[in-house]
Order: sequence, then structure tokens, then C-alpha cells
Amino acid sequence: MKSIKNERNLHGKKILLRLDLNVPIVNGKISDTTRIDKILPTLHFLNKQKAKIIILSHVGRPKGKALKELSLKPICENLEKQLGLNVKLITQNINEIKNKDFFDNFDEEILMLENIRFYAEEEKNDNKFAEHLASFGDIYVNDAFSCSHRAHASIVEISKFLPSFSGSQLDTEISALNKLTSNITKPISCIIGGSKISSKINIIKNLIPKFDNIIIVGGMANNFIKYFGHNIGKSIAEKNCDLIVEEIIYLSKRHKCEIIYPEDVLVSKDLNGSSNKKKLNEILGDEMILDIGPKTIVKIADIINKSKTLLWNGPAGYFENPNFSNGSIQIAKTIIKNNESNKIFSVVGGGDTVSLLKSIKAVNSFNFVSTAGGAFLEYLEGKKLPGINALN
Ligand code: 3PG
Repeated sequence: MKSIKNERNLHGKKILLRLDLNVPIVNGKISDTTRIDKILPTLHFLNKQKAKIIILSHVGRPKGKALKELSLKPICENLEKQLGLNVKLITQNINEIKNKDFFDNFDEEILMLENIRFYAEEEKNDNKFAEHLASFGDIYVNDAFSCSHRAHASIVEISKFLPSFSGSQLDTEISALNKLTSNITKPISCIIGGSKISSKINIIKNLIPKFDNIIIVGGMANNFIKYFGHNIGKSIAEKNCDLIVEEIIYLSKRHKCEIIYPEDVLVSKDLNGSSNKKKLNEILGDEMILDIGPKTIVKIADIINKSKTLLWNGPAGYFENPNFSNGSIQIAKTIIKNNESNKIFSVVGGGDTVSLLKSIKAVNSFNFVSTAGGAFLEYLEGKKLPGINALN
């Protein structure tokens, strides 16, 4: 894998730069800019080399449709402000743009194409679409480690048409994760939460042989609670997951890995409501599980205190509503306490988890914080990520 930071002859070259600017946007406003902040060094480096930059990114999951609420406009404005440079958002249909349409004004340095997932071809890793994208530039750079587990056109197929390089944020993530996987001290525990159940539930079974404890919280825990015969009301859950859960339980026994899921929860009738503490057999049909309860917090704290290495990916509840942020905050505080006394090596990953840590000013209290969620877990599984393979 060649890194762009070692290249020097970039003057005037058009760089197609794939970033992961998938930041949380609430009512048109960015609620956490971490993913933008982290790629500023790459942009400064390319700008200093007098390269012309064309940014490619997605935000959210528009599934091939142009949705106004998933426009990159607020991200473009934030980037412009942080860089102190003009960043022009190109909103024309990509399929109608030609190479000569770019950088028509001499002082244009950075362009950003509108949300690449507005095009169905992106997620299909479409060869023609990738070739068309590639025709806009001279060089391709992937600085989106957190999307590199996706075999999409702007991540994989595009690299077939241009000299391709990794960006410095991607390099940093990979070297930190390599260090972690080669230096594991046991007992090792993993906390997996968040709401992207479909992306993560299959990963758990591959993590089982590597871990002593896997603690399942957040949306994914609902599938376990349901599997063990409890009513989960209106809570989010993935359909047809019983077989996966069964396999996870079978494998955990075989590999002596303890699977922990909540034994009590906080519920509400809607996302903006107040919290109500419940045992698992007390959840009503019109309620949704939005956080872990106090007994579960104590159990998780006990496991963290006994662990020497800890990975955490995905919040324990709907922390955007402060009534349901306690579980995640208590997990963070327990890890930090152990980290401060050097009793644990801690790695945290995932866009939402990083947002939560930022909200409690704790981003610098862990050994390593990755902005990647699914990609982070798949890398730990030992999987070859398609985006990294493409660069190799
Ligand atoms: C992420 O947030 O993990 C990345 O941006 C990838 O998003 P996705 O899970 O929608 O592919």
C-alpha cells in the first residue's frame, strides 16, 4: 500500500479523495465534527503541495436517491470554515459532468461532489460509474478507513482506473489497530452496541474465539433479549436473527467466551420521552428499550475492572436523549478509571461512540480512539477489508 504522504510531485494534479464525512446531522446542523476534524491534516498536506482536490464522500444511507436532508452542504460549509479555503459543492448529476467542467476558475482548489450514495451505482460497485468518477482525476486517495469494509465504487472499483494511495488518517488507523492486535494482554473483553445491528451481529461470532467476554448492549442486545423469550415492545431489532443468536451462544460455550446481555433496561414510549426502569419481563408492547439498567451497569463495570484489554464499539443506549445516556457514560467512566491507573489497554471505535465521548470531553482518555465502527470490527475479525485490498 502506497501512502500519499510520501508523494511529492502533486503540483497541479487532480486528486480524487475519498473521505468518510458521515457525521451526525440533526435539523441541518452537524452535532459532532470529529470525522471532519481528523481529515484536516490530509487536506492541508494536499493543498500545500498545490494539488487540486475533488472530495468524494457519503452521508447516511440514501439508497440511491437524492435526499435533501442528506446533502453534504452543511459538511462542505464546515470544512470551508475550518480550512479557511473555498470548498465548492458540485450538485450537478455526476453522470452528466465531464472532466473539463472541473476547476474552471483558476482560484478553485477544493471541490466536493454531492453525496455519492445518491447514485445507486455506488453501492453496486459499478464498474462504469467508477470509470466515470476516475475520469475526473489523475490520482485516487482513500482516506476513509471507516468505509473501507464497503465494496463500493468510490472505494474499490475506482482504484482499478487510477494510481491509488492511502491517506494519512487511514494509515494511522491501520497502524494503531495492528499494534493492538499484535499486543493483546488477556483477559480481553469487547463491548458492542449501537444501532447498526445488521452490520455487526454477524461479526460477533467471528470475534468469539479471540475474546474472554463479549458484552452486547444497544440495539443489538434487543435481539438477544427477544431470543430469550422476553417482549421487547417497539424496540429496534433485526428480523430473522434467531439462528445467528443461537450460533453465537453455541460458539461462546465452545470457546469459553462469556456473552453478556442486559438484565435490566430503561424504556420509554418514544425517543424523546423520560426513562422508566424495567426488568426484562416487565416491558410493555408500546415501550421501547433505550438504555441499560443499573444492575447491568454494575455487571459490566465488574467485567471491565477484571479486563486487561478492552474494546468498545457502539453506545449502550439512545444517548442523544440525556435520559438514556447514563449506561454509556458509566461504561466510559469505568474504562477511564482503569486507564488512568494503567490497569487496562482501551480502544474505542465508531462514529456514535466518539460523539458520545466528545460530549463528555473524554476523547483523549483512551489508548486509541478510532472513528471507524463496522470497519474497525471487521478489521479485528481478521477480515481483509475490500477498500484496503484495493489499495494493495
Ligand atoms: C460508518 O459510519 O461506519 C461509515 O460511514 C460507513 O457507513 P455505513 O455503515 O452506512 O456503510
